[in-house]
Amino acid sequence: MQRILAVIFFLAVFLNQSQAQCNSTNCVGPACRCMSTSSPGGLTKAQTPQLVFLAFDGAIATTNYDNYTFLLNKRINPNGCPIGMTFFVFHEYNDYNLTHSLYFKRQEIATHSMSHLTPAATWANKSVAEWTDEIGGIRDALSKFANIPKAEIRGARAPFLQSSGDATFTAMKNLGMFYDCSFPETSVNRTNPPIWPYTLDQGFQHECAIPPCPKGKFPGVWTVPMVALNRNGTICSMADACDKPNTLDETYQYLMDNFQRHYNTSKAPFGIYLTANAWFQDAEYRLQGYKKFLDALSTKDDVYIVPIARGLDWMKNPKPLAEVPNFFSCPTMTQTPCSSYSCYYEGDASPVGSRNMKSCVTCPDVYPWTGNPLGLP
Ligand SMILES: *[C@@H]1O[C@H](CO)[C@@H](O)[C@H](O)[C@H]1NC(C)=O
Ligand SMILES: *[C@@H]1O[C@H](CO)[C@@H](O)[C@H](O)[C@H]1NC(C)=O
Ligand SMILES: *[C@@H]1O[C@H](CO)[C@@H](O)[C@H](O)[C@H]1NC(C)=O
Ligand SMILES: *[C@@H]1O[C@H](CO)[C@@H](O)[C@H](O)[C@H]1NC(C)=O
Ligand SMILES: *[C@@H]1O[C@H](CO)[C@@H](O)[C@H](O)[C@H]1NC(C)=O
Ligand SMILES: *[C@@H]1O[C@H](CO)[C@@H](O)[C@H](O)[C@H]1NC(C)=O
Ligand SMILES: *[C@@H]1O[C@H](CO)[C@@H](O)[C@H](O)[C@H]1NC(C)=O
Repeated sequence: MQRILAVIFFLAVFLNQSQAQCNSTNCVGPACRCMSTSSPGGLTKAQTPQLVFLAFDGAIATTNYDNYTFLLNKRINPNGCPIGMTFFVFHEYNDYNLTHSLYFKRQEIATHSMSHLTPAATWANKSVAEWTDEIGGIRDALSKFANIPKAEIRGARAPFLQSSGDATFTAMKNLGMFYDCSFPETSVNRTNPPIWPYTLDQGFQHECAIPPCPKGKFPGVWTVPMVALNRNGTICSMADACDKPNTLDETYQYLMDNFQRHYNTSKAPFGIYLTANAWFQDAEYRLQGYKKFLDALSTKDDVYIVPIARGLDWMKNPKPLAEVPNFFSCPTMTQTPCSSYSCYYEGDASPVGSRNMKSCVTCPDVYPWTGNPLGLP
């Protein structure tokens, strides 16, 4: 009996320690933050804005661009500035001209790898150099072909949410990336009340649903836990992976119920992570239900829909609600030029078969790909 208890005790200690412990004495905000359900800066719930992160994965293309602009539709936050969504972009079939347009509508453009190749499991074992080519590659391509300042591309999401743990974060750190948003959190305790984003100064602390997870410490790099949504008992970290709503009102209710779990408890940022093509295009009512949800948020003066990077900027400088309108002031942007080039590649000019590509600048010599993201000859 004693031996069994000892084994159980050992297992409990072992399992407990498989995730890093964060000691807040040695992790002082705003630069460092432990995993927590508390607002940053010691703010009360009443002083805390409810941030909402709306993110979409994959190529920006004519098939989804109109749906994005339909949702944006001059929608504003309580301070009168445009709302901001986040786009985790991969290269294949991405339209860099439309990407440019979204960026200059004040949307965040982030990385989702250059190649995004299947099978998903291969992403668990990539080296630092391979991750650098994938994350740095798509960042270079977005900067060049969509004419977006490189320093504004700050976020990363692993293909299929499958990272290689430390190798991925080492590459991110080397590239100066600000945050990752690839790791689900599904436990009841950390989704109700939901946990806030935190830094990896003292290591990765939430659920390791898709191993490997980072074991090292990555000071200054943030992780945004993908707090799971719940729909009638099914849970999902990508909103399109729960049972699909069958009507406009079910869609609205699904999003609203999950939003309220955040809004009524910890006020941790509420994220909706979607692959638009899978959810909107075979059912226009889901797009309408999503819009109805955004319309309902627009009636609340403490709810701000912001790009993930700007939400984390606020966490590093947590102003109370009264100062939030000023904090999330309308970004002033200097429009960079974008001409429309339609590029076409086949044969030796493309390592992956015939491809079209829309670019803001002159067509590169060969189809851009992992290892040659600028398509140099
Ligand atoms: C946290 O760190 C401080 C200072 O190093 C130490 O005194 C304290 O015991 C630590 N707390 C825990 C719970 O480990
Ligand atoms: C959404 O996208 C689909 C596919 O491109 C398109 O048929 C539909 O008209 C779009 N709806 C809106 C409101 O943008
Ligand atoms: C890839 O990584 C996973 C998870 O760390 C591991 O279980 C697997 O053995 C690795 N595969 C190869 C071929 O190295
Ligand atoms: C969840 O929280 C409760 C109350 O704090 C605690 O008793 C329980 O052990 C926690 N469960 C897990 C899996 O962490
Ligand atoms: C849950 O399922 C019931 C029955 O299928 C449905 O009427 C209800 O709208 C669903 N709830 C949500 C939030 O979709
Ligand atoms: C949140 O609070 C609202 C208003 O008090 C209530 O109607 C709703 O049921 C609550 N939802 C959750 C998920 O707690
Ligand atoms: C580039 O995007 C703009 C929208 O911002 C559109 O008006 C234009 O037709 C696009 N050009 C091409 C070649 O797709």
